[in-house]
Amino acid sequence: MNQAPQYVLSGLRPTGRVHLGNYFGAVRNWIQLQDRYRCFYFVADWHALTSDYADPSKIRQSTFDAVADWIAAGMDPQKSTIFLQSGIREHAELHLLLSMVTPLPWLERVPTFKDQQQQLEDKDLNTYGFLGYPLLQTADIIIYRANYVPVGEDQASHLELSREIVRRFNNFYGPVFPEPQPLFTETPKVPGLDGRKMSKSYGNTIGLTSSADEIRKLTMTMFTDPNRVRRSDPGNPDICNLFQFHRLFSDDQTIERVDRECRAAQIGCVEDKRLIAEIMIEKLRPIRERREQIDRDPSIVWDALREGNRRARERAGETMEQVRKAMQVDFPELR
Ligand code: TRP
Repeated sequence: MNQAPQYVLSGLRPTGRVHLGNYFGAVRNWIQLQDRYRCFYFVADWHALTSDYADPSKIRQSTFDAVADWIAAGMDPQKSTIFLQSGIREHAELHLLLSMVTPLPWLERVPTFKDQQQQLEDKDLNTYGFLGYPLLQTADIIIYRANYVPVGEDQASHLELSREIVRRFNNFYGPVFPEPQPLFTETPKVPGLDGRKMSKSYGNTIGLTSSADEIRKLTMTMFTDPNRVRRSDPGNPDICNLFQFHRLFSDDQTIERVDRECRAAQIGCVEDKRLIAEIMIEKLRPIRERREQIDRDPSIVWDALREGNRRARERAGETMEQVRKAMQVDFPELR
């Protein structure tokens, strides 16, 4: 039986090179969805401006680095539509039109609004644009009439808002948009070098495409079992940060051996760091080599984005025709 294609959309703010937390938490999953859905993946450069408006100088390079790493990791510009938000001006038009029907309290009660304002207190986030962050995100999603949005738990409240706005819009103007569903997938926990969640803001990341030497240097700073002080102390892999990386990268046999030898104090932490570094270097080699190839020929990224923008614009344009008609801001006489 032939079913209508299902659309998947997701995006990330341009935060630069992909780290292992981004990879195992989102990007790897996006890549796996490529064969089953019509996938649209984009860099949310306008969203970056909601908090970095005072200094946008890093957005361009971060955009390149993000897309280069996505492609290096296996995102295929033929299969997925990879695009840049600011290249599709229709998102802004839809954002404006949606703003007419969005009650302010709906935006004010989104948990990330107050949380982020407090967390990033060095920036003035008491702006119209920042309040509208989840509304712009709604426009990003529904302009592609996306059925599914792979998101982390932290974005769940944003998607709930999107669904409410879709219901309100469709109620006023007729069924233009499907309600986007979240697509939650099991993702492994990726700790940073220091055991906290891997995050750029903690400075505890390992890049997906870091060089072999960088990986060796970074793994040397990894936290291990804090109770294992001397080499002769038996270790406990269950509370060892480094051991989490074996779970992500090593084969079962190695995991089993390290577990056993650590508990018996037969392998030391330094030796284990050297081991995990070499395993990671080997496992990440194809991705790293592809990234090096892209750096020698950056047009791979720009060509993918140009073609992705073209495809995205086409679908967004179709949606906007329906939206303008539905909201009666369409004057065929003037075309
Ligand atoms: N808010 C997302 C982030 O933190 C980026 C984003 C913007 C997004 N629009 C989206 C994600 C639409 C999913 C769907 O990076």
